[in-house]
Amino acid sequence: MAGVETDHRSGVSSDPPGLAVLASGTGSILGAILDAGLPVAVVLVDRPCRAEKLAADAGVPVEAVERAGFGPDFDRVAYTESVVAALGRHEVGTVAMAGFGTVLGAPLFAAFPDRVLNTHPSLLPSFKGWHAVRCALAAGVRVTGCTVHLATEAVDDGPILAQRAVEALPGDTEQTLHERIKAVERVLYPEAIRRFLEGSLR
Ligand code: GRF
Repeated sequence: MAGVETDHRSGVSSDPPGLAVLASGTGSILGAILDAGLPVAVVLVDRPCRAEKLAADAGVPVEAVERAGFGPDFDRVAYTESVVAALGRHEVGTVAMAGFGTVLGAPLFAAFPDRVLNTHPSLLPSFKGWHAVRCALAAGVRVTGCTVHLATEAVDDGPILAQRAVEALPGDTEQTLHERIKAVERVLYPEAIRRFLEGSLR
């Protein structure tokens, strides 16, 4: 890869080594990313959550960009601009969403073109959205899984980079199935991120 280039409009370097991880939940995927020794430059959260403590324990800076609200007046573009500004305070070249509960808008994809990754608990393009595991169970599938993909403005869309199947077992609840999927995500996502940073996963 060529040397570091700076996008002078955003002030964000297009090729620094650092990874930003965006999380909102229990942070178990973040934990796996940290355990894998990936170069996490910052963890960004949109609400108080366990991910903050995981990051702090690992000595990784945390940016808390809390949402003002969840109602219809939520200004997604302005919020995304705040996220991009917070990431700009760190050496970030790639963004990995790991259970981030806010859909981000165009400014993120403009600042990090083709450098935003996501992991989703289904075999995309099936079962997009927040209730992927519940919907897969309701559809009666025997096999579901997880997908690592390049994120785009369209939610749970964008080129697929890696997938792994997980069997739905008789008696599975949303929680038991999601836990087994997350166990696979905790292996697949760090591997995929590492290969993406090395330039060998496209
Ligand atoms: C994962 O299943 C991820 O794919 C989804 O949210 C979950 C995050 O899990 N978007 P955790 O909070 O890291 O445990």
